[in-house]
Amino acid sequence: MPAAAVSPVLDQIDATLPAALERLMDLLRIPSISTDPAFKPDCARAADWLVAELQALGFDASARPTPGHPMVVAHGSSGTGPHLLFYGHYDVQPVDPLSLWHRDPFDPAIEETAKGRVIRARGASDDKGQLMTFIEACRAWKAVHGTLPGKLTIFLEGEEESGSPSLIPFLKANAEELSADVALICDTGLFGETPAIVTMLRGLLGEEFTIRAASRDLHSGMYGGLAQNPIHVLTRILAGLHDAEGHVQVPGFYDGVSELSDDLRAQWQNLAFDHARFLGDVGLSVPAGEQDRTPLEKLWSRPTAEVNGIWGGYTGDGFKTVLPGEAHAKVSFRLVGQQDPDTLRQAFRSWVEAQLPADCSVTWKGHGNSPASVMAIGHPAFAAARAALTEEWGMPAAFIGAGGSIPVAGYFKTYLGLDAILLGFGKDDDQIHSPNEKYDLTSFHKGIRSWARVLEKLA
Ligand code: BES
Ligand code: ZN
Repeated sequence: MPAAAVSPVLDQIDATLPAALERLMDLLRIPSISTDPAFKPDCARAADWLVAELQALGFDASARPTPGHPMVVAHGSSGTGPHLLFYGHYDVQPVDPLSLWHRDPFDPAIEETAKGRVIRARGASDDKGQLMTFIEACRAWKAVHGTLPGKLTIFLEGEEESGSPSLIPFLKANAEELSADVALICDTGLFGETPAIVTMLRGLLGEEFTIRAASRDLHSGMYGGLAQNPIHVLTRILAGLHDAEGHVQVPGFYDGVSELSDDLRAQWQNLAFDHARFLGDVGLSVPAGEQDRTPLEKLWSRPTAEVNGIWGGYTGDGFKTVLPGEAHAKVSFRLVGQQDPDTLRQAFRSWVEAQLPADCSVTWKGHGNSPASVMAIGHPAFAAARAALTEEWGMPAAFIGAGGSIPVAGYFKTYLGLDAILLGFGKDDDQIHSPNEKYDLTSFHKGIRSWARVLEKLA
């Protein structure tokens, strides 16, 4: 594609930004919370909305039913270049606690802030604003050139935030239809203000469990001192998850974890990560976790164990002198290197079970389960994408890691044989998964322009 082809597209993007924003706001008004069955019709509505948008752009698009929420698949073609598969997700996280939002999470608005204009709504950054950057780049290209910018398949998931239960079966059943030369995933962020391509992602393992002692809740005066308290048992076990230096104590936990290569260590050193500022932005000052590791290692290349929730007994208003019969917890592990999720699940369960005192039992509910993945940065498309980002942002694009998990990146390789390029425009302060999520207008605008440039170089 001649480089001149992109310049009128960039002008078109600039000139039509208000209309692009209106469309994003329409999508943000649909409360597509995938984990909550009450929002199932809204997830279907978001999928249908996207299908209609893509059809209007000339894609052959449809919403494909799954046992969960629909997948959106759209094919469009022009030219003879490589075939690109774009991935994003239209589902969002729950909004609670709603009381901490300063507006309705599904009534989006443009707000002026000290750091510039933002689009405020659940999903603005993760991932509706991001997936729309790609669709809007296609729209502008079509408006200027009359055709789409290449051979494209757009694949949008509606279950990413709830563990992607339908994804692997769908990829297996539709492998031929989804075949392409390389995948593009827009679900990550910038590195501070620097454009970035994510080259490694941590995996995820989720566990939920209940420890039971007495056969019912008891009066804590009548039974306390003699009866076993399952909250004490649960918190004692979880307090032993890390030693004083922050190392995870589950036997075998570090099997398959490798040290950073000298090359990568040097690259990350050059990124000059300001961890004091990163922590300071959320009211913290002292790095926690493994004391013998650098901040970026801790975030990107070291595994973690985090307690995500604990409950039991009486937590409502007022006070109740209860000695509970049950205690509950949710724990997740971020995985790196060759750590095997199935092996670790078993290791964690055995470790907990071995510590149960008399009269206590445990039941398990397994959640997320995906290994870490490392991208093939030697693929020529990486250099092209990097050059496109560098042009748009006026500074060299960084290769970074990501602490979060995007299981589809690994699945594309396993089930479709596809290498994936992860690039996105979110910011650290977007408050994804938290109250008052936002997406900067500059992320949206420059994100669309970035994709136009990437498509010009790749398609
Ligand atoms: N977009 C995020 C992952 C992410 C966050 C990448 C920040 C880079 C920077 C994604 O939607 C997400 O939140 N994934 C979940 C995993 C899922 C299985 C619930 C996560 O990482 O917790
Ligand atoms: Zn996401």
